[in-house]
Amino acid sequence: MSSSTTSEKSSQPSQTTFRFRCIGCGAMTGSASEDFRCSDCGNLLEMTNSSWNSNDPVALKSLWRERRTLNEALDLSGVWRFRELLPMPESEENVVTLREGNTPLYELPQSSRATGISRLYAKHQGMNPTGSFKDAGMTVAATFARQAGYRWVACASTGNTSASMAAYAARGGMRSLVLVPEGKISWSKLSQALDYGALACQLRTDFDGCLRLLQELVKRAPVYQLNSINPFRLEGQKTLAIELLEQLDWQPPDHIIVPGGNLGNSSAIGKALLEMLEIGLISHLPQLSVIQAEGANALVRTLREGGGKRLVSVQAETRATAIRIGNPASWEKAVKVLQATGGACEQVSELEIVQAKAEIGAEGIGCEPASAVTLAGLKKLLQAGFVKPEETVVLVLTGNLLKDPDFTMAFHRSDLFRGTADERESAKLDQFRHPPVVIDATLEAVVKTLEQAEKSDPTDSNA
Ligand code: F0G
Repeated sequence: MSSSTTSEKSSQPSQTTFRFRCIGCGAMTGSASEDFRCSDCGNLLEMTNSSWNSNDPVALKSLWRERRTLNEALDLSGVWRFRELLPMPESEENVVTLREGNTPLYELPQSSRATGISRLYAKHQGMNPTGSFKDAGMTVAATFARQAGYRWVACASTGNTSASMAAYAARGGMRSLVLVPEGKISWSKLSQALDYGALACQLRTDFDGCLRLLQELVKRAPVYQLNSINPFRLEGQKTLAIELLEQLDWQPPDHIIVPGGNLGNSSAIGKALLEMLEIGLISHLPQLSVIQAEGANALVRTLREGGGKRLVSVQAETRATAIRIGNPASWEKAVKVLQATGGACEQVSELEIVQAKAEIGAEGIGCEPASAVTLAGLKKLLQAGFVKPEETVVLVLTGNLLKDPDFTMAFHRSDLFRGTADERESAKLDQFRHPPVVIDATLEAVVKTLEQAEKSDPTDSNA
């Protein structure tokens, strides 16, 4: 089976026709093979739409805003609300949606004070139905899997993709096959996939090994792959940026900062920014920067050592398991959007990630470790003078705090760095630690604990 996308959109203001284009040799095609790679050169495909320029940006903005007041399934979705910039299935009946998107844009007052950046925001994609940004892409890709008549969908994952895919497969009446690295994803994410009915295989390898195997499997078995190699995923993930710009009244921020793993999300956000500029929805581009964990820094090294021209793979290791990826599939797409938007690529240490996660938690928001690289990276970009205090900055928080409770508990109990070289250094984070206390079930004991806490609490730890 192949995925045909030449479809016509029924709603105004203009008709769209999507095709696939190879990012390597530029070959165009109306359908894609199972592995979503170019049949000529083997590189990744992306989707194109020849008729965007005919869209009136003013009409689009008011149409999208008006849809927020409507109760149709497609309008309630923060992804399909922007369907003029998405591939549409032949029938709207095929759309698999869990009302994804519509995620909040939060201010970060404490981090603003600490960094001196007064306009600092977090776009929290962890507030999606399965708790991560994956849902925005999954609704589109699962829709096309269903339209193509697949019984099985499959992915390799560090956890979030599998949770999201399993949910959308269940809603769309499909089975799901999950390939995850054994012992290297959080139980929270795996347990989601199980509840949504996935066939979960824990493979004795890393994420990169799982993805390699999946690429072979799709050529052998009739399964539809839902990794971000699948261009439909990235089309859906574009809406993060569209919704963000709408929330900012179409005034582009100076910087958008995003974590980098397999590099699908940065590619999707960059694609959306370029398309919005082309259509005239925005007047200029924000700079899109990608932050990686030091132990999983393939893009950083690809740019520094390979000049952005060849992939420098790494053996990935980080406690931010969502981005424990050494051989990112979409590296070329990410390099292109970094270059097109003038963004930076930075790496942060495990300690820096932990501190940033604690700081985001202290804002009453929270996120999973991989998302916290954004704040940690921002501090470095600020120090380097790449970001300036008077600029507007948006951090993309990709996953919910509840995604990795083991990590959070280990941090508060001072177990995270126990026995590692970082143990002493991690003591400086004590102000963020709030380990649970075990006390007698008496009023006196609770009152005493409260009084002790009041005494030891600095009035404002961030002042
Ligand atoms: N943040 C979180 C929470 C993630 O789960 C991922 C990727 C990323 C950032 C990186 O995004 O890969 O588009 O650069 N998670 C994938 C997964 C790989 O399988 O859940 P990316």
